[in-house]
Amino acid sequence: MTHTITLIPGDGIGPEVTSAVVSILKASGVAIDWEPHDAGVIAVERTGQTLPATLVESIRRNKVALKGPVTTPIAAGFTSVNVGLRKALDLYANLRPVWNLPGVDARFQGVDLVIVRENTEDLYAGLEHEVVPGVVESLKIITERASTRIAHFAFRHAERHRRKRVTAIHKANIMKLSDGLFLECARRVAREYPGVAYDERIVDAACMQLVMFPERFDVLLLPNLYGDIVSDLCAGLVGGLGVVGAANLGADIGVFEAVHGSAPDIAGKNAANPTALLLSAVLMLRHIDENDAADRIMKALAGVLTAGRVRTRDLGGAASTTEFADAVSAAL
Ligand code: NAI
Repeated sequence: MTHTITLIPGDGIGPEVTSAVVSILKASGVAIDWEPHDAGVIAVERTGQTLPATLVESIRRNKVALKGPVTTPIAAGFTSVNVGLRKALDLYANLRPVWNLPGVDARFQGVDLVIVRENTEDLYAGLEHEVVPGVVESLKIITERASTRIAHFAFRHAERHRRKRVTAIHKANIMKLSDGLFLECARRVAREYPGVAYDERIVDAACMQLVMFPERFDVLLLPNLYGDIVSDLCAGLVGGLGVVGAANLGADIGVFEAVHGSAPDIAGKNAANPTALLLSAVLMLRHIDENDAADRIMKALAGVLTAGRVRTRDLGGAASTTEFADAVSAAL
């Protein structure tokens, strides 16, 4: 069977890591017809829009997309394409498995946790305004509907993947209403899954515990902003942003992208590690029931990383993006 999948190369290191991953998927033998689409600043140059309607339609039609990172200007300029896409397609769950890859040196070994981040609201609602000069207001939106469905997602994921515990992360001691509602929904949903343990941590304490005892965590359930921050922290536990994949999931659509951004500091140098996007692509293959190819890619990746001869610079090696991708393809 040939799968038609939307491909968003993105910008910065995006085109380099996506073409590396596309070449590895080709070597794995999975039949994919890619539908490439621009987004962000590149799309503006060509279409006048950062998130062209044709791109959104392509994903709605194909139900699956592989996405490179897209730059968002800081403090001014257009709003985030990434946030816009998640909202447009109601990709309410951001799933980020964090675990030690074989052969990758990291501050910790034995980390195996999953971040489940609410993806559509919180301070990422983008509702900001100037009240009077010198005073701005940013609205944190938390709804019962979104909090309940992300909690169900976390517990269903725990059940399906035989995970033992869901930990809700919050700051409800200060934000009693907003984080309070998130927590109340998590508690209510937890009662429906008696086979999965449930506990809670205040976000600051959770960060401290994550960098001391990461092996104690299993599934983390977080509102959008904490989820974004804690994801990068967790990536740092297992070797950095180059080695953590992710998925944005809605009711019937999946957009698979790495946790990292467009890395302007190394863009255009053929130096980025494509492993993070490759891990996202492996999640994508499992999502479309191509488990055999997913297993073979993981084996090939583990083989290359363990042999250690071909490593990208973020992992202490000297290999380029393409050399690394070629090594994984050859191992396949
Ligand atoms: P970043 O994740 O792009 O980079 C942070 C650091 O990690 C940099 O030193 C970079 O070189 C390194 N890094 C990231 N990915 C790497 C890889 N695959 N291999 C080796 N090293 C890697 O974060 P930053 O610099 O804060 O953001 C840059 C831009 O990306 C911003 O415009 C941001 O808004 C955007 N962004 C986009 C995301 C997306 O499209 N989903 C997610 C996160 C950020």
